[in-house]
Amino acid sequence: MSESRVALVTGSSSGIGAAIARRLASEGIRVVINSARSEEAGKALAAELAQAVYVQGDVSDAADARRIVRSAVEAFGRLDILVNNAGVTRFVPLDDLDGADADAWREIFDVNVIGTWQMITAATPHLRASGDASIVNVSSVSATRALGSSVPYAVSKAAVNHMTRLLASQLGPGIRVNAVAPGLIETPWYAGAEQVWESSRDWITAHTPLRRVGTPEDVAEATLHLVNAAYTTGDVLTVDGGRHIV
Ligand SMILES: NC(=O)c1ccc[n+]([C@@H]2O[C@H](COP(=O)([O-])OP(=O)(O)OC[C@H]3O[C@@H](n4cnc5c(N)ncnc54)[C@H](OP(=O)(O)O)[C@@H]3O)[C@@H](O)[C@H]2O)c1
Repeated sequence: MSESRVALVTGSSSGIGAAIARRLASEGIRVVINSARSEEAGKALAAELAQAVYVQGDVSDAADARRIVRSAVEAFGRLDILVNNAGVTRFVPLDDLDGADADAWREIFDVNVIGTWQMITAATPHLRASGDASIVNVSSVSATRALGSSVPYAVSKAAVNHMTRLLASQLGPGIRVNAVAPGLIETPWYAGAEQVWESSRDWITAHTPLRRVGTPEDVAEATLHLVNAAYTTGDVLTVDGGRHIV
């Protein structure tokens, strides 16, 4: 490929998305940074990277999703990689049935599931034109285990896993669709839920094979692997230090 590839990473002003944007950029990939609210942080990251632009937009809004993709293609003339990383949750204990009300379900599904879908449908014509395109959805280990920040969050990530498989079956051979499933990763995600963070961190550090929580860079490395894994589609790659086997 003579011209360098272009990646759009949603929710990349912070945490895992920012690390993915940095890692892809370090491979010479041109990157589109996105967030719904934290514009300043997104613009600062785009300014820090060699060839990057920032596009504000809320993935849960259909018009925004189309505009984000349009802006990416206008900026760089092509789109080869879509990383659906933007996500939200509410911290509600799994046994607090009243705490996970319909508003929580709608808010979480709007971003994590419908937002992912809207970004994929808007990007697919451009990804087809790439000829060798890759979608990576950021899921969670809570998609397949009875754990996570809340029931609606874990179920939303289970939906992301199955969306990954269904679309992989339909979008090949030109577009591969995979997911990464992080375990506990140290990011601003836990701001305001410090108790959850501390008890989870202590448990992970004591009981899992690799004896540490994950870093955003750990997830970025796995994402880059899937972006380049030419014979892998429909897969969910776990990035949890071995948490899933204990
Ligand atoms: N941290 C973990 O332990 C962990 C574990 C498993 C999976 N994950 C997943 O990893 C992803 C990133 O999480 P993180 O830990 O890096 O959290 P984070 O630091 O809070 O980052 C979330 C990012 O998503 C953006 N975002 C939120 N809603 C958006 C929307 N509607 N449209 C566009 N961007 C939006 C945020 O920016 P604004 O809010 O400013 O728009 C921010 O850039 C999420 O999908 C999460 O479910 C995290």
